[in-house]
Amino acid sequence: MPVLGIETSCDETGVALYDPAQGLLAEALASQISLHAKFGGVVPELASRDHAARLAPMVNEVLEAAGAGLGDLDAVAYTAGPGLIGALMVGGAYAVSLAYGLRIPAVPVHHMEGHLLAPMLEQPRPTFPFLALLVSGGHTQLVAAAGLGRYETIGQTLDDAAGEAFDKVARLLELPYPGGPAIAALAERGRADAYAFPRPLRGRGLDFSFSGLKTAVRIAVARELERGVPLDEQTRADIAASFQQAAVDSLIEKCLAAARESGLERLVVAGGVGANQLLRSELRAAAQREGIEVFFPRPGLCTDNGAMIAYAGALRRTDQRTMQIVARARWPLDEVAPVRAADAAEW
Ligand code: KG4
Ligand code: ZN
Repeated sequence: MPVLGIETSCDETGVALYDPAQGLLAEALASQISLHAKFGGVVPELASRDHAARLAPMVNEVLEAAGAGLGDLDAVAYTAGPGLIGALMVGGAYAVSLAYGLRIPAVPVHHMEGHLLAPMLEQPRPTFPFLALLVSGGHTQLVAAAGLGRYETIGQTLDDAAGEAFDKVARLLELPYPGGPAIAALAERGRADAYAFPRPLRGRGLDFSFSGLKTAVRIAVARELERGVPLDEQTRADIAASFQQAAVDSLIEKCLAAARESGLERLVVAGGVGANQLLRSELRAAAQREGIEVFFPRPGLCTDNGAMIAYAGALRRTDQRTMQIVARARWPLDEVAPVRAADAAEW
């Protein structure tokens, strides 16, 4: 029986239906990019209101696409954190009310666990234990995943997240939000070696740092502007390509170091920045040279989506029915409850 998944932690409303026996049955995604674009970032109150307006119609749309009805649902999974608290409350209140009315369980899901498990919706499917690089707008971390709910963060950013660095550099280059796809597109016409941007903390442990890289880009932009003319297209493309290369080099160096240190031979990449084509191709090549198997979900499963929440919810499903809404703005991934192999619905 299918599990409905609801994602509302930030600026995408994601709804999906996942069946443990049949796989992903249907999914819908509503992006709020145009809503927030003119503010240069996500406005929390606008995000909450948009989630509230879209959820119910999207659930109907997904059920209809799967030829299912509310009565067919086995559980409702929802993102309980981390994220914007108002946005989480909207999804949580909707999911818990729906589940309570249907007399089925509501399953709170950790957003980053959803990202981490998303590659398992694809073939070939990674098996535990593995190393995970989680790279999104709010997180950049390396996680040793021993089993379902058994995660140890072995490296993380000391300042900005990788996606945040893409977003901030995009703003410096007057590109639209979100910056990742815009930088990647502009970088295609640029030279990655035009500017010698730093690779912070290279060779020094498993933690990341992106704020120095962002500052180096800011200084380079300021120097160009000192000449008194706006940046031409080639200069902007060169800066975007050089920045993207530096960010990707840093991510790859830390992944390889973490693989060596942990002895793990499978690497899973997830989160919005995992959609970056340069990261995908260069990490694949580097991992192959080191004998590491790397798993990327398709780009649509890297960025926020309801499918990963439905899937994590199916694995974490219990018979417990509750009216309690779980919503946590901050929630370290290492604190999620472990799931015994025998407990996991399809393990
Ligand atoms: O996982 P996600 O959709 O939302 C969060 O949970 O944060 O990640 C969004 C982040 C944004 O910072 C966005 O700029 C970045 O992922 N991103 C990319 C690309 N697509 C999205 N960064 C680099 N290259 C991309 N192609
Ligand atoms: Zn995310």
